[in-house]
Amino acid sequence: MPATIIMGGQWGDEGKGKLTDALAANAAMVVRANGGSNAGHTVQTRHGTFKLRLVPSGILNPRVRCVIGAGVVIELATLVGELRALQERGIDTSGMLISDRAHLVLPFHKRLDELEELRREQDEIGTTLNGNGPAYADKASRHGLRVCDLLHPGVLRRKLAIEVDAKNHHLSKVFGAEPIRFEALYSDLLELAEFVRPMVVPTEVVVQDAIEAGERVIVECAQGAMLDIDYGTYPFVTSSSPTAAGACQGAGVAPSQVEAVIGVYKAYSTRVGGGPMPAELLDDTGELIRQRGREWGVNTGRPRRTGWFDAVAARQTSRLSGVTEIAMTLVDVLDVFESIGLCTGYRVGDEVVNHVPALLDDLDGATPELHFVPGWTKDTTEIRAFSALPTQLIQYLSEIETRLGAPVRYVGVGPDREQLIDRRA
Ligand code: IMP
Repeated sequence: MPATIIMGGQWGDEGKGKLTDALAANAAMVVRANGGSNAGHTVQTRHGTFKLRLVPSGILNPRVRCVIGAGVVIELATLVGELRALQERGIDTSGMLISDRAHLVLPFHKRLDELEELRREQDEIGTTLNGNGPAYADKASRHGLRVCDLLHPGVLRRKLAIEVDAKNHHLSKVFGAEPIRFEALYSDLLELAEFVRPMVVPTEVVVQDAIEAGERVIVECAQGAMLDIDYGTYPFVTSSSPTAAGACQGAGVAPSQVEAVIGVYKAYSTRVGGGPMPAELLDDTGELIRQRGREWGVNTGRPRRTGWFDAVAARQTSRLSGVTEIAMTLVDVLDVFESIGLCTGYRVGDEVVNHVPALLDDLDGATPELHFVPGWTKDTTEIRAFSALPTQLIQYLSEIETRLGAPVRYVGVGPDREQLIDRRA
């Protein structure tokens, strides 16, 4: 039984955590593929609400093995804190595995993330300030430290000393900032390393063995494909690839082993941080969506920007990742609207384009071509079967299916596990 990828098709926060948790009930393994503690995956069960940043969203299913893949960047203190908090709430974390190839996010990465954002002033990316960008930059420029280095104190000391030295030079000369203290950092890392040591393995081997044994493997992406470093709204992107291709790479799964790609989309758009968002609503409608959808960041508490469903962006992410099934979440948020907008093109100067232009100036100045469909103005939160959804909602979904070229399989009508409708159930 090959792998299923769960990826966000917009700018993140689409509800991937909730879907992963639900589908993990029938899986043997959940592998997180990319990103780091910039992610905030919320899972709500009868035991309460869990906010996960690095631990895969399958962790609340006792028999599932949860894997942090090589494509993830790990801030160790956050991961250990998250695992301890789960254990304190009685969650079994004995199935956790961590890739020995995953890169580390170190305190100087966080410091550089903050300082670089300050230097950009009004052009700031609006990062989550978790050090992800600088950590991925070090990975690409071959300065990174990896989980395997952690487990060998001599190796760690040697490599860390070189990096701390270089980063302190940069911090003081470029930013006039305080240096990082090597000994304190080294001993903190050694202590944290002991906590994770039993979980560290070559996860690509474990994942391949599971697939070979016919086990069901779910690959969970963080962020959303519109934040992809190659096809997102660069430079207002994250530093990894939250796409199906990125999922394969980060989890250690071959493209030919992927059976399904579930694109998770909200019934409208949200975005946190800077960057273009042509379908953004800066009026009362946008505010009503924010209030009804409780659109504030899980980790940062920042209000999310809101807008109508951007079918141009969504079509791009669906096509580039080969989405085979759509999960449409937060549909109930639109229950009160008489008519609902869909952005079907961007007007750039005199032209209407139906792809996402590379040049930021084009996107910044783009106005949305909106197509309105009738709303359903009915409470959907108690509905549990696809066939019982209001006709106008089914029409809205079918319009999106046509534009994205994939069928809607799951529909989310609220935050609880039971509020996820499977069309095939
Ligand atoms: P970074 O990933 O912290 O470097 O932030 C880069 C951009 O991605 C910023 O606009 C962030 O707001 C956005 N971003 C990063 N992680 C998430 C996420 O999990 N959900 C939504 N946006 C995110």
